[in-house]
Amino acid sequence: MIKLGIFGNPVEHSKSPLMQNSALQSLGIDGFYDKYLLLDGSQIKNEFLSLRLDGANITVPHKEDAYKNADEIRGIAQKIGAVNTYVKENDKVIAYNTDGLGFMMAIEEFGNIQNAIILGAGGTAKAIAVALKDANIEVTIINRSRKGRLEFFEELGCKCYTPEELSSLSTINYQLSTIIINTTSAGLKDDLLPMQKELLQSLMKNASFAFDCIYGKTTPFLALAKEMGLQYKDGKDMLLFQGVLALELFIKQPIPTSTIEQMDKCLK
Ligand SMILES: NC(=O)c1ccc[n+]([C@@H]2O[C@H](COP(=O)([O-])OP(=O)(O)OC[C@H]3O[C@@H](n4cnc5c(N)ncnc54)[C@H](OP(=O)(O)O)[C@@H]3O)[C@@H](O)[C@H]2O)c1
Repeated sequence: MIKLGIFGNPVEHSKSPLMQNSALQSLGIDGFYDKYLLLDGSQIKNEFLSLRLDGANITVPHKEDAYKNADEIRGIAQKIGAVNTYVKENDKVIAYNTDGLGFMMAIEEFGNIQNAIILGAGGTAKAIAVALKDANIEVTIINRSRKGRLEFFEELGCKCYTPEELSSLSTINYQLSTIIINTTSAGLKDDLLPMQKELLQSLMKNASFAFDCIYGKTTPFLALAKEMGLQYKDGKDMLLFQGVLALELFIKQPIPTSTIEQMDKCLK
């Protein structure tokens, strides 16, 4: 029997157990995916091992602690500095990040994208920026604060601004194949836009696509994108595909479309 789970704080709201258990069932795999409230992120590897898990996902706020505590980091996670997936391999804890590639799969339907403007500079922004840069897409970061937040992105080769710096530029010149991505928590539990409306409108005027990492609701950001005529979507498919990629790592086999559809149904 395969034993899986998700660590977070809070974790009660997580839809991953529903999604992953339905996938295990659809694949005929004997296993269970549970949720674990973890208060102290520095204990993540010890908890993972003492629970005798074969694999786990890691959510807010433990992704950086999970990175620091793993025995080995593989793939894009090495550049991101945060992980959302642990896999046990020969008594070692191997860590991966599937958020960035999950995002790339979620935006495939938008077609060719040349520029990305990411609002926010937290852990999710890092994963998405690294994945976009790896795909040779120009990335601009806009975050309400600069200190301690933007250095990572500057080193990655992104243009970085605060909203004030951006509004003082004489022209904001982006091409039509531009996507604007909200990775801030604005709109999650409030009705806020991630930045001043007029500035966001001027960015959206030159963009074709909008993506909000928040899922399950039309945030003020997505409502504005709709009003401005952009093609838009919420973060549901990012959640789905990061889960599909994590499951492939857990069970070491590709997930068929029928199972992905089953997982998708759990998020509706
Ligand atoms: N769909 C998915 O699969 C998926 C996966 C991961 C995360 N998410 C979502 O992505 C969002 C961000 O998660 P995270 O882990 O990256 O968070 P985080 O590390 O805490 O970063 C949050 C960012 O949002 C900014 N911010 C917060 N409130 C704001 C506001 N009212 N106005 C403007 N900026 C604001 C912060 O700016 P400062 O630096 O100035 O504080 C920071 O840059 C959350 O809503 C989360 O639910 C979705």
